[in-house]
Parts: sequence; C-alpha cells; structure tokens
Amino acid sequence: MISGRTRLQGKVRVNGSKNASLPILAASILSPGQSVIKDVPRLQDITTMGDVLSSLGARVFRDGPDITVDTTNIYSVEVEEALMRRMRASNLVLGPLVGRFREAKISQPGGCNIGSRPMNLHLKGLRALGVEINEEFGYISARAGRLTGAEIQLDFPSVGATENIMMAAVYAGGVTVIRNAAREPEVVDLQNFLNCLGARITGAGTDIIRIEGVRELHPAVHQVIPDRIEAGTYMIAAAITGGDLTIVNVIPEHLRALMAKLAEAGAEIETGDDYVRVRGPQRLQAVDVKTMPYPGFPTDLQPQMMALLTLAEGTGIITETIFENRFKHVSELRRMGAEIKVEGQTAIIKGKKKLSGAPVEASDLRAGAALVLAGMAAENGTIVEGVEHIDRGYERIEQKYNALGARITRIRS
Ligand code: EPZ
Repeated sequence: MISGRTRLQGKVRVNGSKNASLPILAASILSPGQSVIKDVPRLQDITTMGDVLSSLGARVFRDGPDITVDTTNIYSVEVEEALMRRMRASNLVLGPLVGRFREAKISQPGGCNIGSRPMNLHLKGLRALGVEINEEFGYISARAGRLTGAEIQLDFPSVGATENIMMAAVYAGGVTVIRNAAREPEVVDLQNFLNCLGARITGAGTDIIRIEGVRELHPAVHQVIPDRIEAGTYMIAAAITGGDLTIVNVIPEHLRALMAKLAEAGAEIETGDDYVRVRGPQRLQAVDVKTMPYPGFPTDLQPQMMALLTLAEGTGIITETIFENRFKHVSELRRMGAEIKVEGQTAIIKGKKKLSGAPVEASDLRAGAALVLAGMAAENGTIVEGVEHIDRGYERIEQKYNALGARITRIRS
C-alpha cells in the first residue's frame, strides 16, 4: 500500500547485480571446489539458483552478502522441472554442466509474462561446439564427447545464449569465437569471473568474444558488479517524484542511455566515480525511447520509463524491440488515469498532470517496479498486488524507498 505525493530525497546504496550473480553462480559448477561470490543480493531468484545448485549436489552457504558454493561433489546433471518453472534463468546451468560433465538435462522453459522466450540460440551455439541436443517430452538433453571450439554467429545478441555458450566453451578444445555476442555488463562480469577461475576469454563488452579452451580451472573469489537496473529504477524514482537522490555503488558508464533520456526529460544529473545524483524537475518533458541491446536503452527499465512518461508534458513514444509482450503494465497504469495507446510494439503516452492511486497488479518484476513508482507519484493511495514479482529483483523495496521519504506498507493477507 503506497501513499502518493512522495518526493524522494537522500542517499541509497545499490546492491550487487541479480543478472550478473545468476550466471556467475551457475559458472561455479565449472571449477570443482569452493568459490566465493561477494555482494550477491538477497532475492528470490538468487535463492532459486542456490536451490538449483544444491539439487545437483553442490553445497551453497550464505554469509551476509556473500555466497560460497562448493561444487566438488556434484552428482546430478539434471534440473528438475519445478525449479525450471520457478525461474527461467535456471537454464544458465546448461552451459556449465555440459562444459564440465559433457552431459545435462533441463526441462524446456515455457513462455513467460513478457514473451515466448525460446532457447534456440543457446542450443544452436552448443550444437556448434559438438554437443548433441535432444528435445523430447518437454526436456532438453545435451550430451557430448569432447567439446570442440567453433565459430558461432548469433542471429541476435541474446544475453543468456552468449553466457551459456561462453561457459560451455571454457573446456572445449581449441578456440571458440562468438560473433554478434551480447555486450551487456553482466557478460563482462561473467568473463571476469571465468578468467579468475583460470579461463582464457577476451572480448566481452564488444560483439566478438574469443574463448581459448583450457584443461583445468580452480575456484576463486569474485565480487559482482552493482545492479544497473536497480540503480536505474532509483534514478527514475528521483525524476518522477521531483526528488533528489544520490545513488551510490553505481558504475555510471552502465547507465549512459538512461542518463541521456532523463536529461532530455529535464532531470539534472551529476555523476562521480561510483555515484549518480538525479534531481527531478518541476515538470518532466516527454521523450521517445526505443529499447535495444546494450549499450542501447535497457528493456528492463522500459516499464519504469513508461510510468515516468505518464506524468510528462507532451506525448512520448516507447518502442519495445527486445520482448514481444512487455506492455502488461499499460492496462494497470491506465487504471491510475494514464493515457496510453498501444499499437503493436509501440506505446504512445500522452502525459497527464496527475495520476490517481488505484488497486493495480504487478504482472512481472519490472512492471511491478513501474507501478510502485507511479504509486509514489500519484495523488492518493495505490495498492499493488503481486509483490512477489517485485521481490524477485528488488531487495526490501519498501524499506529502501521509505528511508528516502516514501510511505509504503507491505500488507500480508
Ligand atoms: C536477460 O534475459 C535478463 N535475465 C533479462 O532480465 C533481460 O530482460 C534480458 O536479458 C534482456 O536484456 C538475466 O540476465 C537472468 P535474451 P535473457 O536471451 O538472457 C530472444 C529482468 O527483469 N531469444 O537476451 O533471457 C528472447 O525471446 C529480466 O531482470 C530468442 O529468440 O534475454 C528475447 O526476445 C527479465 N532465442 C530476446 O531474444 C534465444 O535462444 C532477448 O533475450 C534466446 C533469446
């Protein structure tokens, strides 16, 4: 339950990145022994990845913000369906399992709230490395003799496919080259972790990644990068509430696309080595946004940006090019008085002076984050249902916003 008319003010620290932690935890499978991953956020999706690793025989312990994974005694290469259903990103164990054991079985991930999200690019890449893949009865089974390095051209720079192929190729004979690779900072962090384990990978952050196979890896200690999407959500929160937030533990370079749009919308932005300060204007101006693979505007900030545009002066256009069905927040924002028209993958948002609070439902993680932002900026109270989606990506969201001046109460039914 969110009281409206909030002006956020103060300093907030961003956690380690969820989407960097997930592949890095999965990658710990590759090196037998005890690796320590530092600054891993306390989120439901991280718990699920821990459960996936435990179900394979790894030992997983949390000590404050750090997670230790001991993968010495992995005895299973099969992820049960219930765990795949709980989180799609469970599919990130496919690459490392095939890499280390040359065998894996996961259930086929279904569609989800933001689109159909197939795995064809992951599988095409693994096949190129010499892995035999069978898709039967809702399962994907992978088996290989020795993996052999290959040249892989991705049809689309998929983050998950790039990560799975990198992890599978670490022990492959010879050299693997991934072209049109995803350039996201989380891919760079995975490269850095794999190289700490003893892998030989270069090029992450560009669209060509080169992996030279090695025979042996050893465990390592690694600190994950800050969560650029959590940081970006706070930046939009400052702008939409006309507030003044200093967001620390940030790599400003990761947020350039958002900064450009917020500045265009009238926000004042200041950056330092590890912080961003955002001050919202009296009235925001409408801007156009098109989601793109990194370094373009991230799809994971599209719903939050839409919430902002509902209150801007003028008409803004959002084009979603990454996911086919990521506009579920539109109908909920409309319940709060927003004027939004959707045509295919484009949303046309006519800014209003006010939103009015309403009961709304979060369909997925970022849609939920957007509704909380709209609720804080609206005229009266808003009730957001489906908070479990928000908990998948934001740690203690109500406590963090309340410390900045929001009035949000979690109601248990
Ligand atoms: C990652 O998902 C993130 N998840 C997502 O975070 C994020 O939205 C997405 O990248 C895009 O930036 C994690 O890192 C755990 P993709 P991923 O493969 O890897 C299509 C969040 O809110 N595609 O780059 O699954 C796919 O359907 C989220 O934290 C294929 O067609 O994204 C989609 O349209 C949700 N075939 C597009 O590519 C494939 O084999 C981008 O997907 C793979 C992908």
